Order: sequence, then C-alpha cells, then structure tokens
Amino acid sequence: MLSSRPRDIIPPACPWFAPGSPPGLALVDPNKKPIVLLWFWPLGVRFDFRVCATHFKIDSCILTDDRSLYSKAQGVIFFHKDIDWHLRNLPQEPRPTFQKWIWFNVESPTNTAKKPGLENLFNLTLSYRRDADIVVRTELGIRDKEADEDFVLPKKDKLLCWIVSNNDPGTGTGLRDRYYRQLSRHININVFGKAYGGQFLSFEMYYSTIASCKFYLSFENSIHRDYITEKVNGPIVAGTVPVVLGPSRENYEQFYPSESFIHINDFPDLKALAEFLLYLDKNDEAYMHYFDWRKFYMASPHLLSTSKEFIHPICLACDHMSRDRDFNVIDDIYKWYFD
Ligand SMILES: *[C@@H]1O[C@H](CO)[C@@H](O)[C@H](O)[C@H]1NC(C)=O
Repeated sequence: MLSSRPRDIIPPACPWFAPGSPPGLALVDPNKKPIVLLWFWPLGVRFDFRVCATHFKIDSCILTDDRSLYSKAQGVIFFHKDIDWHLRNLPQEPRPTFQKWIWFNVESPTNTAKKPGLENLFNLTLSYRRDADIVVRTELGIRDKEADEDFVLPKKDKLLCWIVSNNDPGTGTGLRDRYYRQLSRHININVFGKAYGGQFLSFEMYYSTIASCKFYLSFENSIHRDYITEKVNGPIVAGTVPVVLGPSRENYEQFYPSESFIHINDFPDLKALAEFLLYLDKNDEAYMHYFDWRKFYMASPHLLSTSKEFIHPICLACDHMSRDRDFNVIDDIYKWYFD
C-alpha cells in the first residue's frame, strides 16, 4: 500500500496546465511566487518561515503574517482552534475572487469544535487525513539501495515505555487510560511525562529515551480513521517497536509495513498482549523481525516542540499554493470531517 498513496507532494510534469483546467483559467501567474498569508500564528506560537526552505526545501511561495497583504494573497491559512466562535477574527474585507481559504486542523474530530458558520467558507483542507487537499504526515520513504546500511539495534535497557503528557478524559483519552491500567497489571511500563506523574523529558531526550526501550506505547488520544500521529513515527525512527492503539490495523498498514508495529486489536485482551511482549523479550530472532522493513523503507524524524510542529503543515500549504491552479469549493467542511 505504501507505494500507492493517493496523493503526494511531487508536482505534476506540467503543473500549470493540469488536465481539466483549461488554459486561461490559471488563477496564479506561474512566474510569480504566490503570497500565502498565515492569518493566525497557531496557538500564538511564532516561528521562522525560513525553516520551510532550510529544513523542508520548500521555497515556492511568499509566506507572510502581514495582514495588509490580504487583498494580494492567493492563499490564506486559518488555524481552526484560533477562530473565534462568532467568527469575529476572520477577515472583514471582501475576499478577492482568486483567493483560497485554507482550513488548517491537525486535531482529531473528538478534539475539533464545531464552530458554526464555517461550513462553506473554505477552498482547501490542510489535515492529517489522506483525503485532505494538503496532507500533513511524516511518511516513510523508499530506501536508496546504494546507501544501504545494516540496521544496528540501539542499546536497550527498558522493556516498555510511554511518554504521555495528557490524560484529560475530555480529549477522548478514557480508552487509552483504561488500556494502560490493565496492561500495567501484567507488565512493567516506564512512564515519562506529566500525565501520570512520570519523569519530565526534554525534547533532546525524546528520541534517545524511546530508543532505549524495546517497545513503546503509541496510544492515540482518540480513535479516528487516519489519525495515526507522531506517536508512531517516534519509535519507528528510534529503532523501537510501536504498540499501537488507534484505528484498525488495516488503516495503519496504509502507512506502515504490517510487521513494523504491534496492534492492540491483534490480541483478545491486554494480558495476552503483555505475554506476547514478554515472549519477544526472550526471543531476539522473533523481535528482530519487526525491523525487517528497514531494508526497504526509511523513516524521518519529525520536528519536536509545539513551535516546530506547526511549521511542516504551513510549508506544505506554501508548496501546494505554488502549484494550485484549480477552482475549489468545499461543500460543508464538517460533513467531510465528522462523518
Ligand atoms: C473559494 O470558496 C468560496 C466559498 O465557497 C467560493 O465562493 C470561491 O469562489 C472559491 N474560490 C476559489 C478561487 O476557488
């Protein structure tokens, strides 16, 4: 499934005259970089737009937070959480006909407020969902055969770990909390982060701590299709086996090789899962099978910290706007997102 993703960010061969968009209907002059306006700094967190060029090699638009450029902007990005309930903080001037409004939301439906009035305002979606117009995910890449290096398992001194900062049941974490408690009756879990009074971990310690554990609990806060987050990418990058709680195994397999992770649903109960992890702890050969995928794919680290995690989506929106030539209207964004 990995090779057949429905969307990617590689520009088509002749981007300005994509089939279906007649010449002349071009909304953006291909010789000019489009202006993409970030209407809110997500959660008030500022970052340096130059990271798009330096880290993600994306330099195809002019990113700005200068609202005086509103009437010239081809794209305007709105971070859903920052929109006020009465929409008073949206632009009050008329929208230029060429302009596209981009709905930016990386929270799951459980943690997305249905603010009234937004249903028919947007032209593009920017989300982790695979059917979004601009898909934000950290995905596996194909390994370059030439650069092949044998995988060396990092030194392990812990069996099962979990870094968790949020256990507010209001965010949907009830199930994961129950599973954690049941599992911990049968196996020792090293918990880091503030949710259960665990040890605080700095960002510098994130990958090395995960690497020191044989298994890692990649428990999503709520269960939704495609909502498979950096909680899986962390252990995959670090050389640790993720134990996942989230959507179906089938959904995970659309993003990760089937034998790169252990799915909670593969077991009748948490005791059976604990027994399997203890079995793998004693059987190196069986354990090492979980790293066979590394012969074919490679994982890239995601940026840590709130200030950095928002950069990637913004850069992808910039990249998309530099290629986007189509007219696009979203009919009822909530129907798309919540149904
Ligand atoms: C963007 O969406 C709005 C609201 O549906 C629509 O009126 C407008 O024509 C669309 N513009 C473009 C450029 O797709």
